[in-house]
Amino acid sequence: MILTKPILFSAVQPSGNLTLGNYIGTMRHWSSMQNNYDCLYCVADLHALTNIKKNIFSLNKLILDTLSFYLACGVDPNKSIIFVQSHVYQHSQLNWILNCFSEFSELLRMTQFKTKRCSNNTSVKSIKAALLNYPILMAADILLYQTNFVPVGEDQKQHIELTRNIARRVNYLYGNIFTIPESLITQYGSKIMSLLEPEKKMSKSDINHKNVIYLLDDMYSIMLKIKNAVTDSEIPSKIYHDINKKPGISNLLEILSAVTNKDIKILLKELEGVMYSEFKKIVIDCVYKCLNNLQKSYYNYRSDESYLKKIAYDGAIKAQLKSKKTLKNIYDKLGLIAFEYI
Ligand code: TYM
Repeated sequence: MILTKPILFSAVQPSGNLTLGNYIGTMRHWSSMQNNYDCLYCVADLHALTNIKKNIFSLNKLILDTLSFYLACGVDPNKSIIFVQSHVYQHSQLNWILNCFSEFSELLRMTQFKTKRCSNNTSVKSIKAALLNYPILMAADILLYQTNFVPVGEDQKQHIELTRNIARRVNYLYGNIFTIPESLITQYGSKIMSLLEPEKKMSKSDINHKNVIYLLDDMYSIMLKIKNAVTDSEIPSKIYHDINKKPGISNLLEILSAVTNKDIKILLKELEGVMYSEFKKIVIDCVYKCLNNLQKSYYNYRSDESYLKKIAYDGAIKAQLKSKKTLKNIYDKLGLIAFEYI
């Protein structure tokens, strides 16, 4: 009897320099997940088109940067499928089909759409349809592979819920076409906050770079950014985890816990009586050590573009093989004729 592992799908969009939030929220778990799941790790370049307006060459670069980070995080192309979304045309094909099963009103309810729509400061008329339809492409990414689990940060939870609803709707009409996926969200580290505004998520697209630790930041930037991170004025100062009362300190604690792989409870014991300034020094030191190791490995992979392209090519072939099965199934049910089978 062949025992199959559950299928796991995750992705990052190459829409900017990756952040410590991306790493802590998802990518740091990817390597160990390879032992328990059949993993697919996708560079979601089509998603990035909703953000990038100008220059196709920078997207090209960001795709290879992102791929290098996947490898640097310990994703092994012999164990997992690593691929670029636009290389697997089935994503776009299923995307359209799922558009036909999605409701305008449910898309309008997506928090990320509402936030981006307000922050872009654009009039309703000029908002791109892609910004609204974006979660449907995400649903296509996930459902194509009969995914069981999707590790994501807190901000993507609502999109996974939407994916489940679309999948249930299609299954109700046409039988069991899609596996209903579940999100994997960790208790701590699933929402790393901005350093200067700890009530807001750390984000690649933040125009204030002081809010964000990028995975390629050097020691000096890491030091300055964490040194200036907002804490609180509780007297006497005390380190504990309470997102509402102490958002800044709680955020730094979650960061420290993630980069040291230590439980928050254990850290709190170690940090008893420690002043905020000393605490920040510890966080700086540990973030630097973690990122320094990651960066060494990253630069090693990034220097070999032909290797990266080979990984992407091989991954796309494997992903196409898997995704064609789901697509053929839904084509059959809808009465479409899959071209390969004529
Ligand atoms: P993206 O590129 O914005 O983020 C990639 C992953 O990082 C997580 N994340 C965070 N986690 C903790 N704290 C933060 N501050 C933080 N910022 C980002 C995100 O939750 C995400 O898991 N649409 C997705 C990419 C995508 C995808 C998919 C994900 C496309 N298709 C299918 C899962 C399944 C996105 O823009 O993620």
